[in-house]
Amino acid sequence: MKVLGIETSCDETAVAVKEESRILASVVASQDEVHAPFGGVVPELAGRRHLELILPTLRAALDRAGISPDQADAIAVTSGPGLVVCLLVGLSLARALAYAFRLPLVGVNHLEGHLMAILAEKEIPFPFVGLVVSGGHTSLYIVEGWGRYRLLGQTLDDAAGEAFDKVAKLLGLPYPGGREIDALARTGDPAAVAFPRSLLKDGFKFSFSGLKTAVLRRVEQLRDLDSARADIAASFQEAVVEVLVAKALRAAREFRLPRLVVSGGVAANSRLRENMLAAGQNAGLAVHFPSLGLCTDNAAMIAHAGLERLQRGLADPADLMPRAVWPLSGVRSSHFT
Ligand code: KG4
Ligand code: ZN
Repeated sequence: MKVLGIETSCDETAVAVKEESRILASVVASQDEVHAPFGGVVPELAGRRHLELILPTLRAALDRAGISPDQADAIAVTSGPGLVVCLLVGLSLARALAYAFRLPLVGVNHLEGHLMAILAEKEIPFPFVGLVVSGGHTSLYIVEGWGRYRLLGQTLDDAAGEAFDKVAKLLGLPYPGGREIDALARTGDPAAVAFPRSLLKDGFKFSFSGLKTAVLRRVEQLRDLDSARADIAASFQEAVVEVLVAKALRAAREFRLPRLVVSGGVAANSRLRENMLAAGQNAGLAVHFPSLGLCTDNAAMIAHAGLERLQRGLADPADLMPRAVWPLSGVRSSHFT
């Protein structure tokens, strides 16, 4: 069964083709150049750019997979959470294709796409601890099966990716800043500045806005940002990574789960991958990260979640309306894993 996945929830226009065990194509058209001058995503501009990019992206994905649209067996599309003006572009294309080619259509929760992305390339038995760290979310779950997600805790303010982007801006780095900080931090000293590790000992809640303010204060005090930039980037990144590692490992320990999956854009961070894998090894915990292209926004994860939902009878017509807010507690769930 071949599923065509469509993702337009924020600022990446993405189309993928997924067959049961293989990703046949995954094309992501970035809009970074549109939003870079503003230092963040401008919803109306994002919606317009999706409209320009969606058909060339669809064409590129079909060509790469070597299929025509009528050879797809189903369509999966992100219907939330996200920017409604952006979601509508993907949903309109998905509805048109499903109507024209009489294909089943399934709406997918973007967070579920991230949380389960690794299963698009690797089999991992349930249950596992799932940490989603992206531009919009920082949430820790126990994943018991498709649709069976127990939220342990989430951020009280900024998401980890949002903190990376805001701190990058403070340091005068281009948008989006996560990748930039990751690269710059390699030349800096992670112990140069002792930034706060907010809520480190406090259960499974996260907070990153105090850390962001601490970086701001530090930058304000500096005479010469140029010579300190790499050390600040490395020290900031270390503070984020330490909290994420400590809480994810605590969840695995407290709930006696032998597996941990980390996903979302920040899961592409090299220091997080390195430290989490090392900490997991010390603790006898199997730690899994999706490959880089499956961490940041992509449509292969949406195609995969759509395929699983269809095969398990979990596709819900109510999921075809765009939703700005859609916690995972609201997705349809299966009694079986
Ligand atoms: O999952 P994603 O592509 O979109 C959302 O659903 O939000 O995540 C985007 C976020 C951005 O904040 C970006 O700066 C961050 O992921 N990011 C990174 C890295 N690559 C992307 N953060 C830290 N290190 C990276 N290498
Ligand atoms: Zn995302």
